[in-house]
Amino acid sequence: MTSQVRGSQLARLLGQWHALPGRRRSPDYAALAAAVRGLLADGRLPLGVRLPAERELADALRISRTTVSAAYRQLRETGHLASRRGAGSWTMLPGTHRVASSGLWTPSDDRDMLDLGIAALAAPPQLLPAARAATEDLPRYLGGAGYHPTGIIELREAVARGYTERGLPTRAEQIMVTSGTQHALDLVLRLMLPPGGGVLVESPTYPNGLASLAARRARITTHGLSTDEAGWDGELLLGSLRQGRPKLAYLIPEFHNPTGHLMPAELRERLVATAHSVGTDLIIDESFVDLPLDDTVLPPPTAAYDRHSRVISIGGMSKPYWGGLRIGWVRASAPQVQRLAAARVGVDMASPVLDQLVAVHLLADAPAIVADRRRQLTAQRDVLIDALAARLPEWRVTVPRGGVTLWAELDGPISSALARAAEDEGVRLAPGPRFGLDGTLERFLRLPFTLPAADLVEAVGRLAAVRYDLDRAVRPQWREPAVIA
Ligand SMILES: Cc1ncc(COP(=O)(O)O)c(C=O)c1O
Repeated sequence: MTSQVRGSQLARLLGQWHALPGRRRSPDYAALAAAVRGLLADGRLPLGVRLPAERELADALRISRTTVSAAYRQLRETGHLASRRGAGSWTMLPGTHRVASSGLWTPSDDRDMLDLGIAALAAPPQLLPAARAATEDLPRYLGGAGYHPTGIIELREAVARGYTERGLPTRAEQIMVTSGTQHALDLVLRLMLPPGGGVLVESPTYPNGLASLAARRARITTHGLSTDEAGWDGELLLGSLRQGRPKLAYLIPEFHNPTGHLMPAELRERLVATAHSVGTDLIIDESFVDLPLDDTVLPPPTAAYDRHSRVISIGGMSKPYWGGLRIGWVRASAPQVQRLAAARVGVDMASPVLDQLVAVHLLADAPAIVADRRRQLTAQRDVLIDALAARLPEWRVTVPRGGVTLWAELDGPISSALARAAEDEGVRLAPGPRFGLDGTLERFLRLPFTLPAADLVEAVGRLAAVRYDLDRAVRPQWREPAVIA
C-alpha cells in the first residue's frame, strides 16, 4: 500500500501551524517542525508515511522551500524523519517502541481497584429473569445436537429485526451469531484478509481490534481523528482510501471507542461509495449503536448506503446489556454468512444455545433495558465531567453524544506515566498509547463512565492526587498486563 501524504493533505492537517499556542520568537522552520512533531505524537499523522517533497509542501503552505528544508532537517535531527536521497522522507518517532496492543487478561481480584481500563457496565437487573426464562426454553433444543454455526434461528430473527427497525431491511439469513463482537471481527478478518493485507483503521482505535489485526499480520495504516466535534476529516479519510486502496477498513462510526465521535450521514454515504470504487471492504463495528445520549439522533446505518455487499456490520450485546453474555453478530450477505460459518467450524463450531436464549429474552425487552442504560450512562457521564472540571481543570474533554467513554486531552504527554502511578493508588487506566500504534497518543487518556457515580468521583480524586505528585514520583514499572475492553 502506498503511504504518502500529499502537500495539500499535510497543509490541511497542519492548519494554523504558524500561530500555534506557545510559539514565541521561534523561526518559521522550527515552528513547522514542531507542528509536524505534534501531529505525529497525537497520531493524526501516521508513522511510516512519506512526506511531500520539499517543493510541494512549500507550495501548499505558501512558504519558501528553504523553510521546509530546514524544518525537514530539524525533524531528521530529532529522529522524526528518515530520508534517503532520491527516495523521499518517512515519518518516524525517536526511539520508537511498539506498544503491546494485546490486552491480556488479569482477573479483577483486587476489590479496592477502581477499574477504568474496562469500558463496560455491570449486568442489568433484567439479566437474571432472562436467564431463568431461557432455561425454561432450553428443552425445545435438547432433542437436537445443539450445534448451530450461524446461531439459533430465534436470535438471528431478533437481531435481523433490530436492523430492519433501524431502517436497514435484514433477513435472518444475513445474520451470524458469534461469541461477542471481538469474535465477529476475528472471523471476518479470517475470511476476508489475506496475510499481510492492508487495513485502514482510525487512530485512536479499539485496542483489541488492533490485536486482531496484528494476529492476521495486517499492514495497518491510520486515519487520525481530530479531538474536536468533527472527528473524521472526510477529505483525508477518503483520500487515504483512494491512495492506499487497502483490502479492508475497520471503522467505528457510532460513538467511536475511545473518542465517542458519531460519523455524519453524508460521510457514511461518501465512504461507502469511495470504498466500492477502490475495491475496499468495510468492517463497520456498531458496538455502541444502542447508546446515543441526550437527544442525539442516529444517522442511517452505514450499510444502508451499500449496494454491492461492501459493508460487513458487526455488533453485539456487551455494551447495552452485559459483556459476560458473550453474544455478538455479523450482518453480511447470505452467501458471506455461509462462508463465515464454514470458517467458524475450524474455530469454535457454534455459540452456546443457552446463552443465545438469554439474549433472545433480553432483546424482547430491549426498549426498557436500553432506556435504563442510557439514563444511567447520561448521569454517570455528567458526574465524570463535573468531577474532572473541578479536580483536573487543565484536562480538556469533548462531551460525547453517546457511547461509554470520554477521550481526555491531558496537560502533557503523561498518559502512560499517569497510568503507572495511578495503579499504585488503586485506579486502573487505559493510557492513550494503548489506542494507537508505536507509542503515540501520550497526551490522551480514555475515561469510561461505566462505573457507579461515587466510584467515578473517587477515581478522579485519586487521579488528581496522582497528577499532582507525578513530576516528583519515581516511576514504577507495570506489574502485570491488564485487559482493556
Ligand atoms: C469497538 C469495540 N468493538 C468490539 C468490542 C468487543 O466487544 P465484545 O465484548 O462484544 O466482544 C469492544 C469492547 O470494548 C469495543 O469497544
